[in-house]
Amino acid sequence: MGREPYALTPVSTWTPSSWRERPAGQQPDWPDLAAFDRAQKQLATYPPLVFAGEARNLTADLARVARGEAFLLQAGDCAESFDSFSADAIRDKLKVILQMAVVLTYSSGVPVLKVGRIAGQFAKPRSAPTEMIGGVELPSFRGHIVNDIAPTADARIPDPERLLTAYNQSASTLNLLRAFTKGGFADLNRVHAWNQEFVASSTQGRRYETVAEEIDRAMRFMAACGVEVATQSNLHQVDFYTSHEALILGYEEALTRQDSLTGDWYDCSAHLLWIGERTRELDGAHVEFLAGVKNPIGCKVGPTMTPDDVLALCERLNPERIPGRLTLITRMGAERITDGLRPLLAAVRDAGHPVVWACDPMHGNTFTAPSGRKTRHFDAVLAEITGFFAAHAAEGTWPGGVHIELTGDDVTECLGGSEEILDTHLSDRYETMCDPRLNGRQSLDLAFQVAELLRR
Ligand code: PEP
Ligand code: CO
Repeated sequence: MGREPYALTPVSTWTPSSWRERPAGQQPDWPDLAAFDRAQKQLATYPPLVFAGEARNLTADLARVARGEAFLLQAGDCAESFDSFSADAIRDKLKVILQMAVVLTYSSGVPVLKVGRIAGQFAKPRSAPTEMIGGVELPSFRGHIVNDIAPTADARIPDPERLLTAYNQSASTLNLLRAFTKGGFADLNRVHAWNQEFVASSTQGRRYETVAEEIDRAMRFMAACGVEVATQSNLHQVDFYTSHEALILGYEEALTRQDSLTGDWYDCSAHLLWIGERTRELDGAHVEFLAGVKNPIGCKVGPTMTPDDVLALCERLNPERIPGRLTLITRMGAERITDGLRPLLAAVRDAGHPVVWACDPMHGNTFTAPSGRKTRHFDAVLAEITGFFAAHAAEGTWPGGVHIELTGDDVTECLGGSEEILDTHLSDRYETMCDPRLNGRQSLDLAFQVAELLRR
């Protein structure tokens, strides 16, 4: 191709702070820089939230996805909130993800890797620095790690104390997730208990109950055959990883630590970090930062990406071509996916880059409904995933996974689904702080449809 995609940044010059020499988009205007500095220094003394070895395990698991041997389910909130922070909310989100994973695994026979958009997903990129609310121009809400969503000038002032709150909430969330997934809650003997009441009463909920009963039967069958079911830890525990968009680079840098075993640097704020669609410039600060940490990383791939752009990113973010290191998360919109994706798949395949391809069917399908609510239609979400599978089938590549914004709650934020949500319903329970999320029923509905695609 005759290009020198990463000539600008020899890897040897990377340090956890080398991003500071690059233009960093989407960073808040901290009014008190000394306070911001103190918060970063404080964070740098705190324990890591995840360990290097766990991040390496996730890379190995993602390598299986890259080889076409497993499927990635990355799901969770658009923006976690400091206000709706409770054990119930964490548990209910986990329930939906476990349900989706069971449906996908049971129906397709493919192992499902579970990664939450959780325990750190607090920062939001915005298309404009200010927004108009009730005729008043206010600084945009940038996620609870930066400012508050209340529509007042005061609430919107970036507050560095929030970095510490984000760390603490991430730590408690992760602690509970570890307890749930390793301490019995995620046991396959408990599949029925993941079906929440408002989900169980729906068509999908009943369909899920049938799957759960079949799993019960399979467990009894194995026990009857003399398989020591009780000692098979795979049946009683799940590996659940965390992820978020690495947006506020001062926060990420402060949690970046050198692994004593290998000498490599890991961003210990989550297992997987991704670069958003608005901050993926090749020479920008976000790409610089994530190029140097050893975690598995993701990068959003929007509709304007060319094959050359994608190849340059692959070279820059994974020059050693480590399988599982890089996940490309496409978010093109239902209308553009089939035509837009194929040339990218072909280019990456022909260049021999061992990436995971995941489909974010949410961010390319957002629109404002006549009611004025920002929403997405279930059919568009499904159509983008269907187009994603079709493009991979045409290019002979593996549709590695999906990236979904969802909540365990019974919200009315996305239109459609089998229990048809209409524009007139949106204001009933529209609770998101940022983008519209699938509710528990819609998420399960989607899992059954994706399982169908996987089976083909
Ligand atoms: C997101 O994943 O919440 C997001 C903002 O996505 P994107 O960067 O693809 O717009
Ligand atoms: Co979002």
